[in-house]
Amino acid sequence: MKNKTKCIILLILIVSLISFLTYNIYMDKKDNQKEENNKIANNNTTTTSTTTETTTTSTSTTTTTTTSKTVKTTKTTTTTKKVDQNDKFISSKGYKITYENGAYYVDGYLIANKTYALSSDWKPQNTFKSVPSSGFAREPLNKEAYDAWLLMKNDASALNLNLWAQSGYRSYDYQKELYEGYVSKKGKAAADKSSARPGHSEHQSGLAFDLNTITTSFKDTAEGKWVANNAYLYGYIIRYPENKTNETGYIFEPWHIRYVGKELAKALYNGGDWITMESYFGIASKYDD
Ligand code: DAL
Ligand code: ZN
Repeated sequence: MKNKTKCIILLILIVSLISFLTYNIYMDKKDNQKEENNKIANNNTTTTSTTTETTTTSTSTTTTTTTSKTVKTTKTTTTTKKVDQNDKFISSKGYKITYENGAYYVDGYLIANKTYALSSDWKPQNTFKSVPSSGFAREPLNKEAYDAWLLMKNDASALNLNLWAQSGYRSYDYQKELYEGYVSKKGKAAADKSSARPGHSEHQSGLAFDLNTITTSFKDTAEGKWVANNAYLYGYIIRYPENKTNETGYIFEPWHIRYVGKELAKALYNGGDWITMESYFGIASKYDD
């Protein structure tokens, strides 16, 4: 073969080789790209499935919560409400407000005011039934409150002071009658300053008494002064102190005492400068209308 022919054949071979290599590199790149795209696609699928899984998990958490709500609901008639409110209600001073069996509790203390109402069928618990009664129904009272009241009454008696319970427990229906009587006598706005609407009265709790005379002048009697300065030693507070209408929602009621136990009573007595439950716990006492 001639040298020229050899050269041409060699050239053709080299060109073929280069073409082959170039084609292979191109195909490799294409495959890599495909693989990359597949990976991305797979990742997206994984993400989707993770999302789905997360959603499922969260659904199952909700279900658990729902189940726990259901379990609690079986315990009381109003537990669904309680759970919701437990989640929501923390007082402005950080105290937990709970709702159980038709009553609200702030830091464990029953609260009945213009904001927090007792359910119409709520009855005093741990009741004491043998309360001497004439005129007003004074039972069923809370036993602890009643025992503390007897001690207080007896100690006052030893000092020749005569304390008597003018009014103790009042049912929802009886409070309704009383309140509506005041409304028809002096109008709603005036009635709301001194009489609680049904469900909103502490008298329904079995933890409150009205003593002796229901007049502001009770505070100037020997009994009234003694009560103002000593009731806290028995676990009672003056629930609606003087000049605290903006907090309690009610006028000064020197005759209305409420049992809260000695520890809280002492804190609220505050050396004679009464603190209201509303201010102490950071809760409101206001009707919606
Ligand atoms: N006088 C109080 C506020 C009541 O009616 O319970
Ligand atoms: Zn009262």
